[in-house]
Amino acid sequence: MLNEGVVNVSYIIATILFILALGGLSNQETARRGNWYGIIGMTIALLATVLSENVSANYDKLIIALLVGGTVGVILAKRVQMTQMPELVAILHSLVGLAAVAVGYANFMGHGSGFSGVELTIHDIETYLGILIGAVTFAGSVIAFGKLSGRIGGKPLTLPGRHWFNLALLIGAIWFGREFVLQSAAGNGMEPLLIMTAIALIFGIHMVMAIGGADMPVVVSMLNSYSGWAASATGFMLGNDLLIVTGALVGSSGAILSYIMCRAMNRKFLSVIAGGFGTGGGSSAAAGGGEEQGEVVPIDSQETAALLAGAKEVMIIPGYGMAVAQAQHTVYEITKALRAKKVNVRFGIHPVAGRMPGHMNVLLAEAKVPYDIVFEMDEINDDFPDVDVSVVIGANDIVNPSALTDPDSPIAGMPVLECWKGTTSIVLKRSMATGYAGVQNPLFFEENTRMLFGDAKETLDEVLKAL
Ligand code: TAP
Repeated sequence: MLNEGVVNVSYIIATILFILALGGLSNQETARRGNWYGIIGMTIALLATVLSENVSANYDKLIIALLVGGTVGVILAKRVQMTQMPELVAILHSLVGLAAVAVGYANFMGHGSGFSGVELTIHDIETYLGILIGAVTFAGSVIAFGKLSGRIGGKPLTLPGRHWFNLALLIGAIWFGREFVLQSAAGNGMEPLLIMTAIALIFGIHMVMAIGGADMPVVVSMLNSYSGWAASATGFMLGNDLLIVTGALVGSSGAILSYIMCRAMNRKFLSVIAGGFGTGGGSSAAAGGGEEQGEVVPIDSQETAALLAGAKEVMIIPGYGMAVAQAQHTVYEITKALRAKKVNVRFGIHPVAGRMPGHMNVLLAEAKVPYDIVFEMDEINDDFPDVDVSVVIGANDIVNPSALTDPDSPIAGMPVLECWKGTTSIVLKRSMATGYAGVQNPLFFEENTRMLFGDAKETLDEVLKAL
């Protein structure tokens, strides 16, 4: 059994490790170390809590719960494909929300002791907020999981008068909050708590149903933020400083990430939340993705290899399709072959390439591509006029010039990699289908663009052989 002082010191050490973890995760070179800080911090936090004076009995149940939870976690982490990561994150957030709701109810039902007067009111508000945010997070995350995994359609649900509906739910939640605080002082309060929980669940479902597929990653990061605030509210409710701080770290980093993603996609955060944009996965050009705009010029693997071998400056632009095809290892083999021929090969990474932040960086790191040839969009976008060949691998929206030229485009204003300014762009994809935003890409019809059709892994294997 650890005394309070030891527990507090352990909590401070865990907090410092969590902050170091976030710092580490912001950079590829230090990400692995950051992960370790997080793992060690969480282990210290768990041990200190389990061995604290607050936990006096029932160790057998705790150990069983830890074993079951830990086993499920390990199995999920081992099975998940990189492309399924956002949906895994979404369902994990739902558990944080559910835990906040469960702790809130348990705490309310057992609160009789200790609190009175203003303290009781403050405690009740903490409980109410914890359950409210937890229930919104839970319901929203389950729907986000359903949409990302294709179990629920990606189309945004637009109910008539939906903003008024949301407003009514919000007013209802505030009203029942007042009722709850008043009734709780008299020893009741379960009824308004249950009604608010139902309102919060409906709000969570409606909020995420109204958001289209293209905005789902922003929503996942926003729910990540909510799950942090739910944990923080639970920390206040339980008087647990570590939970307050950790929740705040998760809450604020999730909010910052949502903001960064919105900026990279040129979407306003509020309009993402208001919903109604995006149709879900890629659609074919004929199915509403915009008009085809001329002739495309195909190229084969042999010609591609010849062009690459004859180039001095090559820029590789990976996108979601590289992740689908799992072509990153072949990409690196080609890079090595070209570098051996004294070709300068660099990678240009768009901030929202793929389906989650850092998606491309993770894949390239997995294939052991050296970090010093991987550049952020802002670092290399001015260099395209000097690039001989840009190889666009399963990317679409992030190289769409209409984002800059067509003010009516759904992606208007989104910064893109301006590869068309180079001598030749080779685009690898399977068909003329559109990308995530569902808009046609004029790049494919440019005079200096060549289309290499087929699965990116298969075509790149051929290119490698030819090289
Ligand atoms: P997309 O625009 O989605 O384009 C991916 C392309 O890959 C598709 O056009 C598809 O064409 C091709 N493809 C799929 N499987 C392939 C395979 N096996 N082999 C070859 N090609 C394949 O991807 P992007 O350019 O990376 O842009 C990302 C999009 O996601 C943006 O619209 C962005 O706003 C959105 N988004 C990203 C994030 C984050 S954080 N990354 C967050 C929110 C939204 P075919 O079907 O013809 O092969």
